[in-house]
Amino acid sequence: MGKKARSPEGQTAASLACEATELSSRAPVFAPGSVWLVGAGPGDPGLLTLHALHALHEADVIVYDALVSKEVLALIPEGTARVIAGKRGGRPSPRQRDISVKLIELANQGKRVVRLKGGDPFVFGRGAEEALALVAAGIAFRVVPGLTAGLGGLEYAGIPLTHRDTNQAVTFITGHMAGGGLPDAVDWQALSRASPALVIYMGRRHITEIASRLIAAGRLGSDPVALIANATLPDQQVIETTLEKCAEAEKKLPPQVPVLIVVGKIVRLRAGLDWLGALEGRLLLADPLDVKRQSEAG
Ligand SMILES: C[S@@+](CC[C@H](N)C(=O)[O-])C[C@H]1O[C@@H](n2cnc3c(N)ncnc32)[C@H](O)[C@@H]1O
Repeated sequence: MGKKARSPEGQTAASLACEATELSSRAPVFAPGSVWLVGAGPGDPGLLTLHALHALHEADVIVYDALVSKEVLALIPEGTARVIAGKRGGRPSPRQRDISVKLIELANQGKRVVRLKGGDPFVFGRGAEEALALVAAGIAFRVVPGLTAGLGGLEYAGIPLTHRDTNQAVTFITGHMAGGGLPDAVDWQALSRASPALVIYMGRRHITEIASRLIAAGRLGSDPVALIANATLPDQQVIETTLEKCAEAEKKLPPQVPVLIVVGKIVRLRAGLDWLGALEGRLLLADPLDVKRQSEAG
């Protein structure tokens, strides 16, 4: 008999799988003619929720974004119809309205429709717009939350969203508007002062301007920055840099891949928490912020 993997709590992988099946059998009924907006998480399929996995198996058709990883798409049963509704910088993409119309059309045909989105459907994903279009059309829907890249991606990079010694607040920001520009509604002055930790989605194209606005608003050019590309995927890449050098550093990343920009002292904690790096031999520091030395000196 083969060896059974044991979780730290002592449960076998087989018994965990049984529990997953049991949970799945108690999962909500996916009624024909309804749409589930499902978060696919940042990429690693192990980060999908059980509800998401259940939805992928129950759906008649899956309408997915380009951001959904091929590893997650591989979990869709072979016979299930797939419709790509995604866009990847620069390439032509369906208009938002056309995607909503497609969802309504499929639901009206009596299909169980999964709308699969990268990360979480309601975080910079236009999930709310699509859900409101379903409401207007009288289509029943459900939302299956996913792990947003700004959370899961940072943790795979070894960067905590909060730490008592660095920040009491964290802000998620979009660096890109539907029209292509930098969002006007973002008050960089206020953010710079009020939020020690910034996690910027879709900021790649405007990284030079974002960095100079933050510096103009009072952040130091030496403020730590991390660029995280393809977070949680086998080809994840993390660059540690500073606000004044981040635009230059960004050029080293492959084109057309999703990138998060993280600004603030939380980035320094990576020297102690880069658990993925440690698996490949990186030595981790127990006191990456040098708190002990500073408190002794003080
Ligand atoms: C349209 S937003 C979608 C966000 C998604 N709904 C979420 O909750 O993560 C796309 C942006 O999310 C970020 N992103 C999503 N997945 C990522 C990943 N695996 N690695 C790095 N950034 C990612 C990037 O900034 C990308 O440009």
